[in-house]
Amino acid sequence: MDYSDMWCKTTASKNLASAILNKHRDSFKWKNYKENILEIGCGDGSLTKTVLYSFIGDHVQELVAIDKLDYMCNYAKANNAMEGIEYRFKDAMDADHVEEMKGQFDHIFAIFVAHWIPDTKLFFENIHKMLKPDGQVFMVFLDDNVVKTSFNKQMMEKSWAKYTPIKQVFGEYTENPEQYINDLLQKIGFEIDVCEHEIASVVIENFADFIKPLIQMYDDLHLIPSELQEEFFQYHLKNCREACTYLREPDVYLQTYGQTVVLATKSV
Ligand SMILES: C[S@@+](CC[C@H](N)C(=O)[O-])C[C@H]1O[C@@H](n2cnc3c(N)ncnc32)[C@H](O)[C@@H]1O
Repeated sequence: MDYSDMWCKTTASKNLASAILNKHRDSFKWKNYKENILEIGCGDGSLTKTVLYSFIGDHVQELVAIDKLDYMCNYAKANNAMEGIEYRFKDAMDADHVEEMKGQFDHIFAIFVAHWIPDTKLFFENIHKMLKPDGQVFMVFLDDNVVKTSFNKQMMEKSWAKYTPIKQVFGEYTENPEQYINDLLQKIGFEIDVCEHEIASVVIENFADFIKPLIQMYDDLHLIPSELQEEFFQYHLKNCREACTYLREPDVYLQTYGQTVVLATKSV
C-alpha cells in the first residue's frame, strides 16, 4: 500500500498553497544572487515541481527538497524530477541531518508540514540553524483540522490504543496560535514579516483520496497489524467525514480548519 500517487493527484493543497504564496508575494525578501533554497516535507514532489519551483522562479540556484518518508521521496525522484530540484531523504528533526545542512539556505519553505511535528519549538530552532543569517522562512500549517481530531479520538479508543502509544501526533498552538507562534519565533531569533492566523474552508473533491495518504503519514502506522490496516484507514475516514460538511456525490466535502501563515527572517 503506497498512497503517494493518490496524494500526487489531489489538487486541494496545491491550489491553496499557490493562492497563499501569491497573496504574500510582496513580503518575500530575495537576495541579489541566485539562492540556495530548501523545502521541508516535499512529499510526492508535485507541489514542489508545479507550485513552488515556478513561484521562486529566477531566484533559485538549487532547490533541495527533503522528506522523512522514504516512499514519498522515492516517488518524487521517479515522478517529479526536474533540473534544478534535488530530492533528498532527510528528516528536519534529526540532529545530524540538520547539522549537515547548517547555515546553507537563503530561503526555507515548509508547506502543510509543521503541524505534523509535535515539537514546534525544536522544529523552528532547526529551521533557524539551517538558514543563513538574514535568510527567510515561509510556512503554512494547520491547527484544528479533521485529521488531528480523528487521531485524538483514536488515542482514546482501547481497540486502537493497544497497538499504538498514546502520544501527541500534531503540534499544539494554544488557543491563540498567532500570538504563540509570534512569540516563539521571536524568542528563537526571528523577525516576523507575516504571522497570520485564520479559520479557512476548502472543498475537497475526492475526499477518500485526500484523507488516505494523510493517514499513511502517521509515524506509528507500522504498529497496526497488517490485517487491520484497511480497517484503520476506514475508521479515520469515517471520523474525518463526520467532522466535515457533506456537499455532493460522489465524495465531495467541505473542511473547515485553522491555518497559520508565517514569513520570518533570521536576525543577523
Ligand atoms: C501533508 S504532507 C505535505 C506534502 C507537501 N508539502 C504538500 O503540501 O503536498 C506533509 C509531509 O511532511 C513530511 N514531514 C513531516 N515531518 C517531517 C520532517 N521532520 N522532516 C521532513 N519531512 C517531514 C511528511 O513525510 C509528509 O510527506
